[in-house]
Amino acid sequence: MTILLSTGTWPAEDWEVPLARLAPDRRVVVAGRDDFDPAEVRHALVWKPPAGLLAGLPNLAAVFSLGAGVDHILTDPALPDVPIARIVDPDLTMRMTEWVVLQVLFHHRQGFAYARQQRERRWAEVRQPAAAEVRVGVMGLGVLGRDAAAVIARLGFDTAGWSRRPQDLRGVSCFHGRDGFDAFLARTDILVSLLPLTDETRGLIDRRLLAKLRRDGPLGGAVLINAGRGGQQVEADILAALGDGTLAGASLDVFETEPLPEASPLWSHPKVVVTPHVAAVSDANALARLILRQIERVEAGLPPAHLVDRARGY
Ligand code: NDP
Ligand code: OXD
Repeated sequence: MTILLSTGTWPAEDWEVPLARLAPDRRVVVAGRDDFDPAEVRHALVWKPPAGLLAGLPNLAAVFSLGAGVDHILTDPALPDVPIARIVDPDLTMRMTEWVVLQVLFHHRQGFAYARQQRERRWAEVRQPAAAEVRVGVMGLGVLGRDAAAVIARLGFDTAGWSRRPQDLRGVSCFHGRDGFDAFLARTDILVSLLPLTDETRGLIDRRLLAKLRRDGPLGGAVLINAGRGGQQVEADILAALGDGTLAGASLDVFETEPLPEASPLWSHPKVVVTPHVAAVSDANALARLILRQIERVEAGLPPAHLVDRARGY
């Protein structure tokens, strides 16, 4: 019952150490580093696995994404027909909510204006709207979006959410589907994306979408916050919208190309916060136990929890 680790850009040891501590009797091998017989592997724990890796494991029982997203697995054209599960865990959810709330409050509390004034040693008050005057819209009301939206609403923001299917969330106005999209955008000052990357969401955040956001809100323009996936955004359109005042600011954790190329104008844009895809990092120490429980379920003949729907793409 060997476990294969393929951790992409993340150090494999980060996962090996807690797995060995919690399950010392299990054999864990690292793709690309260790010698092993592919036929011995039953469980693959992966983050951005190389295409074809999983197809070469004839006795694979399940694939576990080391993150909440699964686009990094589903893009493999040779993906074997086994269950795929993803991370759903309070530690990861809380990290994401922290990041989203930090960014919403940064823009709401005039973070750029006060940073500029501090550099200029200027003591001046900037008009501060109440949270209730500011409309936040969260795209994606899944595990992460629901939690973030609930906390934002609790802070007093006029909060809405948008999902594929109808949702019901206390204190949050819920919109869904293409039919509800324009009304959702039209009432939004701060747009947060916590969508997965799928065929339907690729390139969604473009010039047309940004032009539909509320123009006359209290922040002097709309704000974009994206921690979903960079493939959802058209960066040239975001830069144009920042230039013509459609957007008053943006906080981006994810990018079309990661790492963000050194030449990208986003790095030094005065209205953009850049973080290097760290909004909710998977902490192996917090998550290894969850993954081992998932493996135990599969060994007991049960499907893993938090299964991915391949046809849907998330
Ligand atoms: P979930 O699968 O729980 O939720 C996805 C949500 O998106 C659902 O509400 C779903 O709608 C909605 N959705 C999907 N497609 C569409 C569509 N076409 N139109 C409208 N709504 C849509 O995912 P999580 O909340 O756990 O994670 C969301 C994403 O966050 C991940 O896929 C990943 O890309 C990103 N992420 C980023 C991290 C970072 O550090 N930057 C860390 C972790 C995750 P419905 O409810 O109707 O199904
Ligand atoms: C994830 C991520 O999907 O970190 O968990 O992006």
